[in-house]
Amino acid sequence: MDPKAMYKLSYGLFVVTSRDEEKNKDNGCITNTVMQVTSDPNRISIAVNKANYTHDLIMDCGRLNVSVISKEADFELFRRFGFQSGRDVDKFDGFADYERADNGLLYVTKGTNALIGATVEKSFDLGTHTMFIAAVNELEVLSGAGSCTYEFYQSDIKPAPAAAPAKQEGKTAWRCRICGYVYEGEELPEDFVCPICKHGAADFERITV
Ligand SMILES: Cc1cc2nc3c(=O)[nH]c(=O)nc-3n(C[C@H](O)[C@H](O)[C@H](O)COP(=O)(O)O)c2cc1C
Repeated sequence: MDPKAMYKLSYGLFVVTSRDEEKNKDNGCITNTVMQVTSDPNRISIAVNKANYTHDLIMDCGRLNVSVISKEADFELFRRFGFQSGRDVDKFDGFADYERADNGLLYVTKGTNALIGATVEKSFDLGTHTMFIAAVNELEVLSGAGSCTYEFYQSDIKPAPAAAPAKQEGKTAWRCRICGYVYEGEELPEDFVCPICKHGAADFERITV
């Protein structure tokens, strides 16, 4: 079994937003799991990790917006929405590139090319994730730029890996070059996935602590 075969699946990338109506708090996270599943009626599916704050918001609010990320997005968009949790920070604080859609939820207007607003019809408990099936009720094209695929993100948006530093005295650890998470241990498992930003072992560098 070669786990890299999974990287051959083609994915888009999206900012999925929802909202806590009681606390009046908006939030969103990066996902690669949005797809259209029926056309009449028009429905999408989206799988969200239960650990994500956005997951709980979608569960309670029953509505979500998908901002389709374009090739013009910069890494900062991924850092803001993909490497930190709305439980700890307000992701829209100091961020100007958003608007509120007719469904009352925010969507991202820069580095994106479409808005898809939807209402959850069903949800399926998949263990680590919940799969939401949602009926599309808001559609807007935001730009003519092409959509950002996961592959394009890996090759053109994510910072290039730096050369591995020489081994020094001390305890070995592995630092995620993308978000800075540190895994302590001599060897990093090949199939390791960063618990913070979900990047794989190839994005870790050996450090000494
Ligand atoms: C490129 C990329 C793809 C991601 N894909 C997914 C995904 O498909 N599903 C998911 O639940 N989280 C995914 N994540 C991770 C979440 O965006 C991340 O855990 C986020 O910090 C959760 O924020 P929240 O707690 O505010 O919801 C991805 C992150 C990145 C950078």
